Amino acid sequence: MITETVEKLNLFSTKQKLKADVILGDCLDVLKTIPNNSIDLIVTSPPYADQRKNTYGGISPNKYVEWFLPISKELLRVLKPTGTFILNIKEKVVNGERHTYVMELIIEMKKQGWFWTEEFIWHKKNCFPGKWPNRFRDSWERLLQFNKQKNFTMYQNAVMIPMGNWAKARLKNLSETDKRRDNSKVGSGFGKNVSSWLGREMAYPTNVLNMATESSNKRHSAVFPKELPSWFIKLFTKPGDVVLDPFLGSGTTSIAALELDRNSIGIEILNEYYKLAIGNINNIKN
Ligand SMILES: C[S@@+](CC[C@H](N)C(=O)[O-])C[C@H]1O[C@@H](n2cnc3c(N)ncnc32)[C@H](O)[C@@H]1O
Repeated sequence: MITETVEKLNLFSTKQKLKADVILGDCLDVLKTIPNNSIDLIVTSPPYADQRKNTYGGISPNKYVEWFLPISKELLRVLKPTGTFILNIKEKVVNGERHTYVMELIIEMKKQGWFWTEEFIWHKKNCFPGKWPNRFRDSWERLLQFNKQKNFTMYQNAVMIPMGNWAKARLKNLSETDKRRDNSKVGSGFGKNVSSWLGREMAYPTNVLNMATESSNKRHSAVFPKELPSWFIKLFTKPGDVVLDPFLGSGTTSIAALELDRNSIGIEILNEYYKLAIGNINNIKN
């Protein structure tokens, strides 16, 4: 196991330095060296089943759950009780049908003690055109949110978006139902009052993230766009917190963390990508 640490001055406090630890090794071994309850957020995109066999060795779809569970057990141990784990994953097609390993993984992780809070969709705005006989091109991936407990840290205001055209169209002609608090449908007492959004500039986003895929010029075959980890880092952490990516690849998560004044730990098994990640992280301007 080799570790290199990139340091950067914290924009919020010039006395405190931010650290990006980049570790070369198998995350299953390296995770065992990380203390219990020490990580605020885990964001990662593990190797997909079989898919990229030529670059870093795929895992057979039938063995995926078995392979991942010992790793998720360590992730559960290192995550703080109030922390969040975001898992970017998508089941591949095997013999003409979608494999069920992601669904099986969710069930097994719940048995392991994880709380499956939410599923976000990454809608790839710029996916390549293509034609298949029995399906359309795949333009979305899952971002599964797991927690250790029902109550976790979330900074919703950090990801608010401009109201935009929705507000203009929806709020122009408010109905009587819109104007009074409407508790009838769910009976939960949680009323919606659309008119209260009148005059507001910002709204909360949905669980669908519209982001372009990363252009493939980063010398790694499976990078995700920096906006993806950045969005979750803003939502689930504050400056100075610790973000972990056990499958670091080209270093995207660590770069996003440093740029947002968070510390990071990234683990990568291949020397080539480990070096690439260090180079990319070092390129961030202080
Ligand atoms: C899908 S890529 C991650 C790409 C990354 N999100 C980025 O933007 O560059 C998965 C990475 O996990 C690495 N990897 C595979 N098995 C690993 C293991 N057991 N421990 C650590 N890294 C591993 C691969 O070499 C690959 O770089």
